[in-house]
Amino acid sequence: MRVILASLLLLLCLMTVALAADSTATRPETIDILLSSHAHRGFTEEPVSREELDLIVQCGIEAPSAMNAQPWRFTVVTNPDIAEQIVSGTKGAVIVISGAQQGMSTQFDCGLATEAMYTAAQTLGLGANIYLMPVAQVNSNMRDTLSIPVGYDAVMVMTVGHIGEDAVSSASPRGDTKEIVNFVE
Ligand SMILES: Cc1cc2nc3c(=O)[nH]c(=O)nc-3n(C[C@H](O)[C@H](O)[C@H](O)COP(=O)(O)O)c2cc1C
Repeated sequence: MRVILASLLLLLCLMTVALAADSTATRPETIDILLSSHAHRGFTEEPVSREELDLIVQCGIEAPSAMNAQPWRFTVVTNPDIAEQIVSGTKGAVIVISGAQQGMSTQFDCGLATEAMYTAAQTLGLGANIYLMPVAQVNSNMRDTLSIPVGYDAVMVMTVGHIGEDAVSSASPRGDTKEIVNFVE
């Protein structure tokens, strides 16, 4: 009996040590999503549900901003023709992130909101990508179509959709941590 108890205790200790050593087994899912997130450009025809879009923009609204200014407005485009005019070839929904023309940190704050929505979409199992290229065209030609409020300019565009076969399947390489990060201890 004592031998069995001792063996069980040893097994328990070994499992605890193994779990502690393998931090990936215990780390929160958000970390895995951030580490594996990447740009998706190809989506299926399946529309993203209203519930999912509401949840994604709510995550944008909850983003931090300098002095809690929240200098953003979000335009969610589910009309396929208009979405396609903004991001050529997309089959997903398009979210236009507009920022207040007056503001101390508008671009940065809108970037944080965009990243929150990008991560939220990928956490929901959807694909997403961020686009700067269409912004100029949106500001020049699509303000009325998108009802961008007076005093705001589009600063970023995000697509979200169900991941299609032609989506990029993995992240491009990132820089060497040793070159990018230094600790001052
Ligand atoms: C500010 C910003 C602007 C971007 N603009 C575009 C764009 O105009 N067109 C595009 O295809 N991708 C755009 N991207 C997506 C980047 O190309 C992508 O995030 C980067 O290559 C890393 O891709 P990965 O996460 O799949 O490795 C943009 C990303 C950011 C953050």
